[in-house]
Order: sequence, then C-alpha cells, then structure tokens
Amino acid sequence: MKINIAIDGPSAAGKSTIAKILAKELGYAHLDTGAMYRCVGYYALQQKINIDDEEALVHMMEYMQISFDADGNVYINDQDVSKEIRQNEISMVASKVSAFPKVRKHLVKLQQEMAKNKGYIMDGRDIGTIVLPDAELKIYMVASVNARAKRRYKEYLEKHIEADYDVIFKDIEQRDYQDMNRKTSPLCKAKDAIELDTSDMTIEEVVSAIHKLMKVKL
Ligand code: C5P
Repeated sequence: MKINIAIDGPSAAGKSTIAKILAKELGYAHLDTGAMYRCVGYYALQQKINIDDEEALVHMMEYMQISFDADGNVYINDQDVSKEIRQNEISMVASKVSAFPKVRKHLVKLQQEMAKNKGYIMDGRDIGTIVLPDAELKIYMVASVNARAKRRYKEYLEKHIEADYDVIFKDIEQRDYQDMNRKTSPLCKAKDAIELDTSDMTIEEVVSAIHKLMKVKL
C-alpha cells in the first residue's frame, strides 16, 4: 500500500536530496514544491514583472506552465530552467513571491491536483500543514544554519554554480526569517509531524531513519 509523505523544513535542510532518493527506492513520485516557487520568481525576473506586485504575478502565472520530467528537471513552458532556478539570487526572489497569498493559492492547487493519488513524496514548507494535511507520514527536517550553509556551498560547487559561503550563510538566515514570519502559511511544524535534526547525520542515515518511520506507519 502506498502512502503520501510530506517533508517540510527550512531551506537547505536536505529535504529534496532525501525525497529524491526515497522516491527512487520506493517507486514513489517526488514533487519539489520549492522549485515551483523558484520558477515563479525566475520567470517574473525574465518577463520583467515587478516581484512586489501580487496581481501582476498572478496574471503572469496564468500564462506559465510548470512541469517536471522523470529525472526531476524543471520546465517553464517547455524551457528547461533546472539550473537557472537554483541560483542564489532566485532563492531570495522565490521566498519573496511565496509570501503572496494568491501566488500560494495557485501553486497549492496545482500541487494538490498532482498528488491526487497516493505514492507521493512532496517537500516544501507547508506540505504537512496545508498541501497534504492527510499525508500518512510527516517529517519536519531541520539542521543548524552552519550545517545547511556548508551543504548548499558544496552543492553549488558540484553543480558549477558560482558560490560564496558567507553570502549563502546570510541568505539561509534571512530566508528562515522570511519563511517563518510571513502571514500566509509560515513555515512551521505540523502537529503530527516527526522532527528530524539532520545536522550530524549522513544522507544514508536520514534515508534509513525515514524507512524505519514508514514501517511504523504501514
Ligand atoms: O525549497 P527551496 O529552497 O527551493 O524553496 C525556495 C523558496 O520557496 C523558499 O524559501 C520558500 O520561501 C518558498 N517555498 C514555500 N513553500 C513551499 C516550498 C517553497 O513558500 N512549499
């Protein structure tokens, strides 16, 4: 029997990396909802839309199709933007546009439509609280800012994306603050979520911990 798994937590806590591995091992679908907010931010900059104008963003989204392929590549209207949306500048823009209730409403609807059936691992900020409140397993994944900044720095270097550790560290702190203090769907642990601090855990240890939690739920 397949279930739905919600993984929430602050930026760079390892949510997407873990979700991707788990999905492959379990034969589940993975949806990285952060990528969708990144697409909105990226496309707005590209189309020269004012990112402080909620109505303009909503209008833009009507003409914008976000899709994923089986390898997790992300497309806007069939253009592969997988690399572009990972830039540090886009992280901050994504966090800004994600504070608008109408932007969230539009993306939450798409996410819920995608995960109508069971067998989804979704990662984000509001999956356990808003998008999939009925998910059978909810994980709230946290890690120290230092651990997260180190991971993101390493990831950028591996992907040949320009990186400055101090900028990444400050960016993570600022995004934590923005994501946790916005009015609409702030990042918070769902009541029935299990907290997992991955600061001192390897990827394999986190994956194995979630497998164990799944056994309890199934
Ligand atoms: O997870 P990622 O760092 O790619 O997300 C980029 C930004 O998108 C986050 O900082 C957050 O503001 C926003 N986001 C959100 N809700 C989600 C996923 C991401 O608000 N479910």
